[in-house]
Amino acid sequence: MNLSEILVCPVCKGALHKEEKSYFCDGVKRHCFDVSAHGHANLCPGKATGGDDKRAVRSRTEFLNLGHYAPISDKLCEILSDLNEKNFVVDAGCGEGYYTNNIACKTGAQTYGFDLSKEAIISASKSAKRQGLTNSRFFVGGIYNLPVCDDGADAITNIFAPCAENEFSRILKTGGRLIIVAAGKNHLYGLKRAIYDEVHTNEERADMPKDMKLQATHNLSYTISLQSEEEIRNLFSMTPYSYRTSEKDMQKLYALTSLETEVEVNIFVYRKE
Ligand SMILES: C[S@@+](CC[C@H](N)C(=O)[O-])C[C@H]1O[C@@H](n2cnc3c(N)ncnc32)[C@H](O)[C@@H]1O
Ligand SMILES: [Zn+2]
Repeated sequence: MNLSEILVCPVCKGALHKEEKSYFCDGVKRHCFDVSAHGHANLCPGKATGGDDKRAVRSRTEFLNLGHYAPISDKLCEILSDLNEKNFVVDAGCGEGYYTNNIACKTGAQTYGFDLSKEAIISASKSAKRQGLTNSRFFVGGIYNLPVCDDGADAITNIFAPCAENEFSRILKTGGRLIIVAAGKNHLYGLKRAIYDEVHTNEERADMPKDMKLQATHNLSYTISLQSEEEIRNLFSMTPYSYRTSEKDMQKLYALTSLETEVEVNIFVYRKE
C-alpha cells in the first residue's frame, strides 16, 4: 500500500508520493517537501504561524506522559477499535501526537497528525520513532486547509483543538467518523477553584458539523491527583486560563504543592452522511 495516498500537495492539490526522503506531487511543477531527520514534513503552503510554542509543548508532553489523560486515549482507541491497517485516521490539531500515536499503536490504522506548531510536530515524530511506529506520520499543516484528498479519511480525531467542520466534511469518506473531544462541565474545576475567587462551570460544546449526524456521546469523568508544583504548572499551561489569569491569581497557583481536580470530557462521535 502506498502510505501517502491520502496526501495532496498544499500548493497545487496534486497527489503526493514519498520518494526516499521527500514528498513529491504529481502536478506539472512537481513540488517537493523534504522529510526532516525527525521524520516530519512541512506541508504548510506558507510559513506556519499560530501554533503552540515550545514551552506549551514541553508542559503538555510532561503532563500527558504521566498518564493523567490515559483514560481519554483508551476510550478513543476503544471507539476506533474496528479500524485496521487499511484505514486512514487524521488527527487534526494533534499537538505532540499523544493520542495519534496511541491510536496508531492500538488499532494499526495509518494515522496522520497535523498541527501548526513545528515544535509539537517534531516532538510527535520523535515519539513515534521511539515507539517504533511506522504507521504514524506527522506534518506541519493547518486544519482549515488540510493537505488531504476529498473523501480520504475513515476517521478524524479533533481533541481539545479548533474545529474546522467544512474541511473535516470534505476529507471524510461517506460513513466515516468525526470524533471531537471537548471539555465537559466540570473539567478542571478543582484547578479553577484553587486559583479564582469566583468559579464557573464550563459551557458544554454543542457542535453540529455540516453533513454529519451525531451517533454517540461518551461522558468521561474522574479525579486526578497532582503531587508537585511542576505537575500543577504543566496542567495549567495546557489550559486557556494560562493566557488570561491575573498576577494575584497566579501567585495562588505558584503556592500550590498538591492538587486534586476533576477531569471531565465529552467525546462526540459524528458520522458523515
Ligand atoms: C490544546 S492543544 C491540543 C493538542 C492535542 N490534540 C492534545 O490534546 O494533546 C491545541 C493544538 O491545536 C493546534 N492548533 C491551533 N490552531 C490550529 C490550526 N489552525 N491548525 C492546526 N493546528 C492548530 C495548536 O498548535 C495545539 O497544538
Ligand atoms: Zn504541487
